[in-house]
Amino acid sequence: MQTKQAYIETFGCQMNDRDSEIMGQLLEQAGYSLIDNRENAALIVVNTCSIRGKAEQKAMSLLGGLRKAKKLNPDLIVAVTGCVAQQEGEKLQERMPHIDLVVGPQNIYQLPRLIDTVRSSSKPSTAIEQTDNFLIPSFLPNLESPHSSPFRRFVTIMQGCNNFCTYCVVPHTRGREVSRSPRDILAEVNHLITKGVKEITLLGQNVNSYGLDRRSKGENYPDFPNLLRMVASTDGLIRIRFTTSNPKDLSRSLMNCFIDLPKLCPHFHLPVQSGSDRILKKMNRKYTVASYLDLVAELRTIRPDITLTTDIIVGFPGETDEDFEGTMQLLEKIRYHGAFSFKYSDRPHTVSAGFSDKVAEEVKSERLSRLQERQKQITLERNSEFVGQVLEVMVESQEQNTRGQWCGRSAGNLIVNFTGGTNPRQGELYNILIEKECLHSLRGLIQQQEGV
Ligand code: 5AD
Ligand code: SF4
Repeated sequence: MQTKQAYIETFGCQMNDRDSEIMGQLLEQAGYSLIDNRENAALIVVNTCSIRGKAEQKAMSLLGGLRKAKKLNPDLIVAVTGCVAQQEGEKLQERMPHIDLVVGPQNIYQLPRLIDTVRSSSKPSTAIEQTDNFLIPSFLPNLESPHSSPFRRFVTIMQGCNNFCTYCVVPHTRGREVSRSPRDILAEVNHLITKGVKEITLLGQNVNSYGLDRRSKGENYPDFPNLLRMVASTDGLIRIRFTTSNPKDLSRSLMNCFIDLPKLCPHFHLPVQSGSDRILKKMNRKYTVASYLDLVAELRTIRPDITLTTDIIVGFPGETDEDFEGTMQLLEKIRYHGAFSFKYSDRPHTVSAGFSDKVAEEVKSERLSRLQERQKQITLERNSEFVGQVLEVMVESQEQNTRGQWCGRSAGNLIVNFTGGTNPRQGELYNILIEKECLHSLRGLIQQQEGV
């Protein structure tokens, strides 16, 4: 029998990337082969994100475009997964009858069975049940998948979120926090190492609260710093990262991991969202600008070489010029290595969607471009601080780019393009002398032929 071809399109975060990997593996086990384009696919999975209005629009416009593909090939199965699927449920199929299957984030593990049911019944189907007692299945990834890096992988340690920031759709789409068992996490890490993986990023919406859900039920789960220590003691792993953290839960014991665990990369993504206490309160963030600055100071005392990145929302309802100036001042005080910044958008079911004092679109745009311009300068200045330093870089690409450069990543998570040396090996560390800063990367020269 000819193998059926499946195409997966992914929007959104690393959590969604990981879910797409899992779905890809399940589909391969069910006899599909994964392809890189939609044209010849018998199954198209659109793994959606609804974090901001724009992300949702992108997914909806791709889905709208598939109407034609379905008309040309009525046997094509169109499945929608991810956060828009959870949020909209059956309404998606009412709006777009060419969608065969809608599957929420907790239900992706049944994807092949759900597809079989749709095929055999020729009826559309929806699976978006969500429970607080959900268990992330034990799951070992298949590294044969050509779609992921062979040496850098993500391991999900928890799903969902309990924080209910007033702007955020995630608690509504991904449900309550559910921690995965340390046994399953370590089994997956060990499996990845035996397949040659060198760098692991532990993933969760708020990794700092790892294990709380289970400990509150009397189970003997470690907290996040202890989980990090367990993962770090695994032989064969060179680098560990984690994402994402809510500043309100960042503990001294997590900071100490940056002293004690040499494998833990000195990069911290610490979303601040706003530099105004008034807005932070309206966002339900549960920290103040002063307490955030204290955390940053402490982190920098512990690891002076740590690179800091953040997320910022501009134009949250009620944000005045003065509030926004607070955010601009925060950029000057912290001088992040990088910042992801967004215009506020209303999301379904969120508290802030109901706030009446919305900021005009032109004001949001103007604030965003001012912030991004300033952050660009700061990023360049920060990157120039690396010039003259020798950084340990893990090689990412097996091939040179058109400029004859190899590409890798520093421990601080900066992309480093470099020349010199012959065929540096993917997944290995090399010392690179940094010669020049760019906005999104550094340029350098290899210092030694052999991996360090
Ligand atoms: N509007 C704009 N940005 C948002 N984010 C989350 N929700 C919204 C929203 N409603 C941003 C936050 C978060 C990042 C992933 O997306 O900055 O940290
Ligand atoms: Fe998007 Fe958030 Fe869902 Fe990730 S968890 S896909 S960022 S809405």
